[in-house]
Amino acid sequence: MSKTFLEHIKTRRTQYALGKELPGSQQEIVRLIQDAIKHTPSSFNSQSSRAVILFGKESEKFWSLTKEILRKIVPAENFASTDAKMNSFAAGAGTVLFFEDQNVVKGLQEKFPLYADAFPSFSVQSGGMAQFAVWTALAERGIGASLQHYTPLVDDMVQTEWHVPVSWKLYAQMPFGVHKGPFADKTFMDDNERFKVYA
Ligand SMILES: Cc1cc2nc3c(=O)[nH]c(=O)nc-3n(C[C@H](O)[C@H](O)[C@H](O)COP(=O)(O)O)c2cc1C
Repeated sequence: MSKTFLEHIKTRRTQYALGKELPGSQQEIVRLIQDAIKHTPSSFNSQSSRAVILFGKESEKFWSLTKEILRKIVPAENFASTDAKMNSFAAGAGTVLFFEDQNVVKGLQEKFPLYADAFPSFSVQSGGMAQFAVWTALAERGIGASLQHYTPLVDDMVQTEWHVPVSWKLYAQMPFGVHKGPFADKTFMDDNERFKVYA
C-alpha cells in the first residue's frame, strides 16, 4: 500500500550525509521541485516564491564560494568544522536556493494597503511552506536534504554568479542528494505542552 501524506511528512528528516547519485533524472527532480513550489499556497495567490536549482558542479561552486566567504569571518582555529560542513553540502547532488520576490510583496502592499504590514510576513510564511513542500517531496523520492541559512553573507555572490534579479531575496539553501548515513536521533516534546483541544 502506498504511504499516506502524514507518513511522507514523517519520512522527511534533516540529512547531512549526502551523495551525488539520484534516484531519477535531473529533469524529473527539477519537475518535482517546480511542482512542489508551484502548488504551495501564497497570500492572494501572489506566488512570491522563486528558486534556483543547482546541480553538480554548480552546486559545488555555490558551497565552495560560501566556504571562501566564511573563511574571512570564521576564526582560523575554528574553521575545520566549517570546512567539513561546506564539503558535506558540496558532496550532495544539488542545492535549491529559495527566494521571495520583493517586487511581488511591494505590488501587494500597493494593491491592498489595508494588509500592507502583513505582506512581508505572509511572503516568508509562504516561502517556508514551499521549503517544506520541496523537502518532503524530495523525501518521498528517497532523496535526503537539509535546510541551511547563509544569508545575507552569500546574497551578492549568488546574484553575481547566477544572475538572479535584485528583487529576489534569498532566504534558504537546501543541499540534497542520496542518503549516505542514518538520521540523527530526534526527540519530541510532550503533546500536552504543545496542543490544546477543546470539545
Ligand atoms: C525555519 C528553519 C530553519 C532551520 N535552519 C537550519 C540551519 O540553518 N541549519 C541546519 O542545519 N538546520 C536547520 N534547520 C533544520 C532543523 O534543525 C531541523 O529541521 C530540526 O532539528 C528537526 O529535525 P528534522 O529536520 O530531522 O526533523 C532549520 C529548520 C527550520 C524549520
